[in-house]
Amino acid sequence: MNKNNDKDIILDVRHLTVRFKDRHKEGTAVDDVSFQVRRGKVLGIVGESGSGKSVTSLAIMQLLGQTNAVVEATDIDFLGENLLNKKKKEMQNIRGKHIAMIFQEPMTSLNPALTVGTQITETIIKHEKVSKTEAWKRAKNLLDTVQIPLSEERLREYPHQLSGGMRQRVMIAMALSCNPELIIADEPTTALDVTIQSQILELFKKLQAEYKQTMILITHDMGVIAETADDVMVMYAGRVVEYGDTESVLVNPKHPYTKALIRAIPNMSEGQELETIPGNIPSIYNLPNGCNFNSRCASCQDRCKEKKPHLVEVEGRLINCLLYE
Ligand SMILES: Nc1ncnc2c1ncn2[C@@H]1O[C@H](COP(=O)(O)OP(=O)(O)OP(=O)(O)O)[C@@H](O)[C@H]1O
Ligand SMILES: [Mg+2]
Repeated sequence: MNKNNDKDIILDVRHLTVRFKDRHKEGTAVDDVSFQVRRGKVLGIVGESGSGKSVTSLAIMQLLGQTNAVVEATDIDFLGENLLNKKKKEMQNIRGKHIAMIFQEPMTSLNPALTVGTQITETIIKHEKVSKTEAWKRAKNLLDTVQIPLSEERLREYPHQLSGGMRQRVMIAMALSCNPELIIADEPTTALDVTIQSQILELFKKLQAEYKQTMILITHDMGVIAETADDVMVMYAGRVVEYGDTESVLVNPKHPYTKALIRAIPNMSEGQELETIPGNIPSIYNLPNGCNFNSRCASCQDRCKEKKPHLVEVEGRLINCLLYE
């Protein structure tokens, strides 16, 4: 069964493409995206709004099913098994037990009518044969792990009684509750204010250091990547534009879009003017000829308006830019 010989790769996505289609139009939201998630490491996926980050993760989890999405890939290998061949029931079992997701707005994922303790114990009991008492004990330990003070009392409270930061900690506790091999966190700190945001990032770092939790962390903020991710995949208008280990990408970015994202990190550009990228990301229904980034690129040349670049390897990193072909 196990065809993935590299035991250090938890998730191996090959040539994933997602199109949205209706009677009037068709657009490509994710265009031939391939990446690997290494065991015990954090893969950051970064790019501005509309670049295809969420659609990528929803496609992997088969959560686009009810929409007009057409998902294609040669392989989505999770621990040696191709998720593309999984039935609905099997995917339900994988979601939650093996791959857990954390979203931006915890209130939409929590049930307002149930106490925190009931919700966490229910997820534990759903996936594992343990008694209620045992599940409750585990729930308390999980709240301790995510550093919620007075955990015993918090378990008896309802989501609305908690602050936004606390609710996100509860979501992280629920994600951890079945010891998933992989957590996908999609903009987990975006809805929180800056102080709380950095506390949650600290918590992710702690989980990573102490429990070697494998994660995909999706964000539009290169600063979050700098703090948390081992590897980074930069996406723009559905395509991977740069992909490599975070440190070398941050120290020596190659793609003009990556460079621009780094110049937009507040504390990385100390003493310099904080830059924003002029213009907007193109619509998936109206992608330009040539490179998708050409209209906003400071290094754009004539050929960039005619020819689509291919991913090429440069210094151990993948770059999608004609300047490097
Ligand atoms: N169900 C859908 N039907 C049609 N188009 C969709 C659907 N879901 C997403 N899209 C489009 O796909 C593109 C990628 O969207 P996606 O949600 O992946 O962006 P994102 O990178 O996660 O952005 P954000 O940072 O805003 O969350 C966008 O143009 C979006 O409008
Ligand atoms: Mg998104």
